[in-house]
Amino acid sequence: MARTQTLYVCRACGGEALKWQGQCAHCREWDSLEAVTAARGPRERAGAAASSSTPLGEGVAQPPPLARLSLGMAEVDRAFGGGLVAGSVTLLGGEPGIGKSTLLLQVAAALADGRVIVYASGEESVPQIGLRARRLGLAAAQLLLVCDSSLDAILALALERQSTLLVIDSIQAMQLAACESSPGSPLQLRDCTAALVRYAKSSGCAVIIVGHVTKDGNIAGPKLLEHLVDTVLYFESDAGSRYRMLRATKNRFGPVNELGFFAMSEGGLKEVRNPSAIFLSRRPQPVPGSVVMVARDGGRPLLIEVQALVDRSHFGAPRRVAQGVDVNRVSMLLAILSRHAELPLADYDVFVNLVGGIDIAETATDLPLALALASSLRGRALPGAPVVFGELGLTGEVRPVAHGEERLRELMKLGYKGVILPRDNLPRTAPPGVALHPVASLGEALAAAFTDP
Ligand code: TYD
Ligand code: MG
Repeated sequence: MARTQTLYVCRACGGEALKWQGQCAHCREWDSLEAVTAARGPRERAGAAASSSTPLGEGVAQPPPLARLSLGMAEVDRAFGGGLVAGSVTLLGGEPGIGKSTLLLQVAAALADGRVIVYASGEESVPQIGLRARRLGLAAAQLLLVCDSSLDAILALALERQSTLLVIDSIQAMQLAACESSPGSPLQLRDCTAALVRYAKSSGCAVIIVGHVTKDGNIAGPKLLEHLVDTVLYFESDAGSRYRMLRATKNRFGPVNELGFFAMSEGGLKEVRNPSAIFLSRRPQPVPGSVVMVARDGGRPLLIEVQALVDRSHFGAPRRVAQGVDVNRVSMLLAILSRHAELPLADYDVFVNLVGGIDIAETATDLPLALALASSLRGRALPGAPVVFGELGLTGEVRPVAHGEERLRELMKLGYKGVILPRDNLPRTAPPGVALHPVASLGEALAAAFTDP
């Protein structure tokens, strides 16, 4: 016999409580509990029949074939870990208006060639989606559009047509008849996602779910959905920029932190084959305070321009502002510069910025940042405009970083002719056409940076 019970569920994390409280005991959010009436009855014992065991050895000897479908663009495939896996469930998060629906419509149309793809939207009407498809120049006559928020109806249709891919745009708009909570509530989100996961695993249909991100940067009902799905992708961009990045933060079928780059254009999203070019402001002449570095993000090397501006501080405590790098790391570099290079930056306001609005958390940014700060203080550009990478230690030593040769290849690909690098990162055979300046200390690096080539 089913009986009803009032539960209190946190809007932020989905945590449950039996009594109302001002603060959620799970995530400490204030005033986030709302009452829901949940039917609690004897549930079917899911999976009771499937509890036979398999020795791991067998699974290792004969791993099930992982067929991957290409999603039309190499940068999308990259973020998915090499393509779409049948029966996988992917959550695509991102702020409203960033281009999630655009990306998925392009992906769905690319796959629709000879396959059944169901694109379910609970937010837009058929004419709206048709208009967007026309703008994108997509001609996917076989793509099945469903504009409905009833997940039961959508699942029934996908099952009946034996679809290869089901797109749900967005999970916050969906509703299961068996769940009485309002759409977007934690209970509804969890039940809908669980139903989609069950469907994907039983039918082999891949599912991509759109999840809107709340203002604090989490997918609404955050961890709640992330642990249910196989892959979590975030679609992100710098405010006002036309570039978009697709980043994998969880992937049961591939490497995480893979990054795909796109540009939003009149005709939709175009993949960016050479992302390094985004983060360089191409100037004919080198200028003071600007240094090009090669950093790694998302498993690939990227050439990024770092800019530093130091200016005498006029009021009280000097300001330290860093965009794209950790401000504490900048403070540490200022101390190293002051102690080991006698560059007295204590009385200066310091501003640091990475061009293109990317965030890099990597120690290889130390040396280029330090040289950019020195260059701004001296009001002198680095002659020869070398590319720089390397970690700085507290004693002023330059330490090697991982993937040195890969970084060298990237800067050669983009036509740079000189590089300042940690001595321990010197390749065994000198690459042709590049002047290498190996350094072991901050002093050597400053000398190499400010001598005419
Ligand atoms: P959309 O995919 O609707 O975003 P989301 O689903 O993440 O909310 O993207 C909407 C934005 O994209 C909108 O501001 C217009 C822009 N856009 C283009 O610039 N070019 C295009 O071809 C399309 C379809 C959208
Ligand atoms: Mg949308």
